[in-house]
Amino acid sequence: MAQRERDYVLGTHDAEIDRLRFQHEVWRDEVHAAWRSAGIGLGSTVADIGAGPGFAALDLARLVGPTGRVFAVERSVRFLQYLRGETRDGAYSNIDCIEADLMHAPLALTGLDAVWCRWVACFVPDVGMLVDRLAGCLRKGGTAIFHEYAVYGSYQLLPPEPKFRDFVDAVYESWREEGGEPDIALALPKLLAERGFSIRSARPIGLAALPNERLWHWPAGFVRTNVPRLLELGRRDAAWGAEVLAALERAERNPASIFLTPTVLEIIAEKI
Ligand SMILES: C[S@@+](CC[C@H](N)C(=O)[O-])C[C@H]1O[C@@H](n2cnc3c(N)ncnc32)[C@H](O)[C@@H]1O
Repeated sequence: MAQRERDYVLGTHDAEIDRLRFQHEVWRDEVHAAWRSAGIGLGSTVADIGAGPGFAALDLARLVGPTGRVFAVERSVRFLQYLRGETRDGAYSNIDCIEADLMHAPLALTGLDAVWCRWVACFVPDVGMLVDRLAGCLRKGGTAIFHEYAVYGSYQLLPPEPKFRDFVDAVYESWREEGGEPDIALALPKLLAERGFSIRSARPIGLAALPNERLWHWPAGFVRTNVPRLLELGRRDAAWGAEVLAALERAERNPASIFLTPTVLEIIAEKI
């Protein structure tokens, strides 16, 4: 029997893999700064939680080197197939792919130096359980590093485009109806404290892009992959999708436009 793909609200199709790759490239500097500040380096053992196709896991594998180890934990078979393709032929022999649903049994990982969790807490129905899973993986003194949205509604086009606002509302609605919460970072400090973590640092990251900048294609690319996804899921109709894309194209033709990205909260917490 064919194995059922464990999809998530944004999909696991090729366009989503391409979007996640580009997104990781755009965020790479911020991510490496977070990892440095959490003390990840040569020889570290790290889990990439909800790793997707593993773009961060591949960077982590280079960072921790042959004496370290990276565990890419993901429930999508398709995403893991992609990562296994990248690690074939002995490349990245320090990566282990672990197919697991974070909302099912605890992970069979313990004593790790760090766990990296980016844009995953916003998609799971029980974030307390997710934080339990992370705590279970770490050694005492190990760190949990999060990049999760705190103010998704700061995703805006200037000058304002009402149809784009409507798109952001549709994203909120679709994630919430699947059991997620876009602004999940707001809940993390309490959940971490309750589970024996001490917060070492916190920093909001909000970016702004002009139409001629490479960064523009991150917030714009999300619109271009997510509008068809919302139609595929039956959440909106084609006429609505065409209006959202027309609003985006109008903004792209206007050199005075600014794209504000959804605000991410970086949290680095230590297991005490
Ligand atoms: C937006 S993607 C982020 C991927 C990766 N962390 C990154 O930053 O590129 C969210 C990922 O979380 C995974 N995910 C969502 N719910 C999950 C669950 N319950 N168990 C395991 N993975 C899950 C999805 O399959 C998807 O790969």
